[in-house]
Amino acid sequence: MTAADWLERWQQGRIGFHREAPHPALTAHWPAIGLEAEARILVPLCGKSRDMRWLAEHGHPVLGIELSPLAIEQFVAQSAQPVLRYRQPESGKSGFDCTRQGNIELWCGDVFRFQVDHAAELAGFYDRAALVALPPAARQRYAHHLAQLLLPGGRGLLITLTHDDPERGPPFSVTHEEVESLMSPNFELTLCDVSPAEDGLTESVWKMVRRGPAS
Ligand SMILES: C[S@@+](CC[C@H](N)C(=O)[O-])C[C@H]1O[C@@H](n2cnc3c(N)ncnc32)[C@H](O)[C@@H]1O
Repeated sequence: MTAADWLERWQQGRIGFHREAPHPALTAHWPAIGLEAEARILVPLCGKSRDMRWLAEHGHPVLGIELSPLAIEQFVAQSAQPVLRYRQPESGKSGFDCTRQGNIELWCGDVFRFQVDHAAELAGFYDRAALVALPPAARQRYAHHLAQLLLPGGRGLLITLTHDDPERGPPFSVTHEEVESLMSPNFELTLCDVSPAEDGLTESVWKMVRRGPAS
């Protein structure tokens, strides 16, 4: 999937990954993550996920990053709260168009262009359908990027999927061995749950804590 493919999916409404209610793994496992309510949470590849509203309702400032402007417009249309729009410049580059609604800030653009200096206060993250949306070559880059963005001690929840066809995706099947190989150099990993999901997929829920100083 290229960026153009994702934009087209949003334009055509092919967003079967979207859920109308908070993800049960978020509501079940987030409290044990142990972050203070004020901790700012990164939601990479956020789509128009209602999980962001759940996090905001639990006191967290949320920073979502999403390629599709349509996803962001559809997200803010879910609420009557006022919307503020601004541009976050990036030296020598085109920058990000940002949209704020209440405690939720959405940056429109490629997650890999989001830099550490943008992320100074990020203490937590929530990844549902982000790692598994990326093809194998991008997953290593994503794992390293996530580690760079988070403060030492930063923590969050990662929800992955496995299925029996390594060529099929998204969602791609990301095995437990791959999660460990990608994440364990920079994160302490705890597997919290493994359960059947729709369409014959198996869902795994991981707690992750950023080790030591940022690399
Ligand atoms: C499978 S969806 C998951 C959305 C959301 N996390 C959820 O749970 O509903 C993946 C999303 O990532 C976005 N996306 C894909 N590649 C991206 C990138 N490099 N940077 C930012 N967003 C990206 C897509 O537009 C899509 O909305």
